[in-house]
Amino acid sequence: MEIIDGNQIAAAIVHELKAEVATLTGRQPCIALVRVGEDPASVSYVKKKQVMAAEIGIESRLILPPATIPQAELFALIDQLNADEGVDGILVQSPLPKGIDEVAVFRRIAAHKDVDGFHTLNLGKLAQEDDTGFVACTPAGIMELLRRSGVSLSGKHVVVLGRSLIVGKPAALLAVQRKAWANATVTICHSQTTNLPAITRQADVLIAAIGKAEFVTADMVKPGAIVIDVGVSRVPDATKKSGYRLTGDVHFPSVSPLCAKITPVPGGVGPMTVAMLMKNTVKARRLNQST
Ligand code: GUN
Repeated sequence: MEIIDGNQIAAAIVHELKAEVATLTGRQPCIALVRVGEDPASVSYVKKKQVMAAEIGIESRLILPPATIPQAELFALIDQLNADEGVDGILVQSPLPKGIDEVAVFRRIAAHKDVDGFHTLNLGKLAQEDDTGFVACTPAGIMELLRRSGVSLSGKHVVVLGRSLIVGKPAALLAVQRKAWANATVTICHSQTTNLPAITRQADVLIAAIGKAEFVTADMVKPGAIVIDVGVSRVPDATKKSGYRLTGDVHFPSVSPLCAKITPVPGGVGPMTVAMLMKNTVKARRLNQST
């Protein structure tokens, strides 16, 4: 069993991006990070995005509207950022407070600044295998993690657990692409799937993205499979100073001995998501080269 080290692979990407940014002429790339309210996980994720941006030489602008912001005002804020020639990428951290239509917010962001890849146009480009768009960061990070770990998906059965816009659907679209590193046979499972363990046990590569702590147990995994754990849940742990520990969608102690390769939580997919956001921001800067 090999543990795929997301921190190490993300660090290699940061190194590459730093060198690329140093060759850019004109102003630095710039990302606007919008965090609505004080969701503790979002506070931590946005902080990580700021830190990695600074390390690469990407400017980040932190915008912190209160959880009570009306949707119309959030739209107005996005419109301003869309019009701002000094901003290359816009990220609105999910989840948003109840009462705000998250998909409508993602659609409000100009497609050419949508470094999250959640806009209708970018998802359409992904389906059409048009590489001029932006691909959602977590699925892009998963594919990069697999590629750089020497895993070929071609002809393999990839089972994606979860059908979210942020991970499950775009991950499935990427894995099935007509690309040398993709070409997988893909099954998407979700809450209404019947006989789930029988399907997940067929997976050569299992991508778990449902956000349920330690849901995937040893009986659901084929020996020798590659397991990518996307979930991050906080579970109470009295031995920790914070009172909690982070765990994934996979019950790591029982599943990991079975696997050929597995990603840990934390330190697997998480840092890759942030690295791919930075990669998309540099791509946006190149698209926006006239300013
Ligand atoms: N929340 C969890 N993952 C993501 C992500 O990739 N982008 C945004 N905007 N919010 C998230």
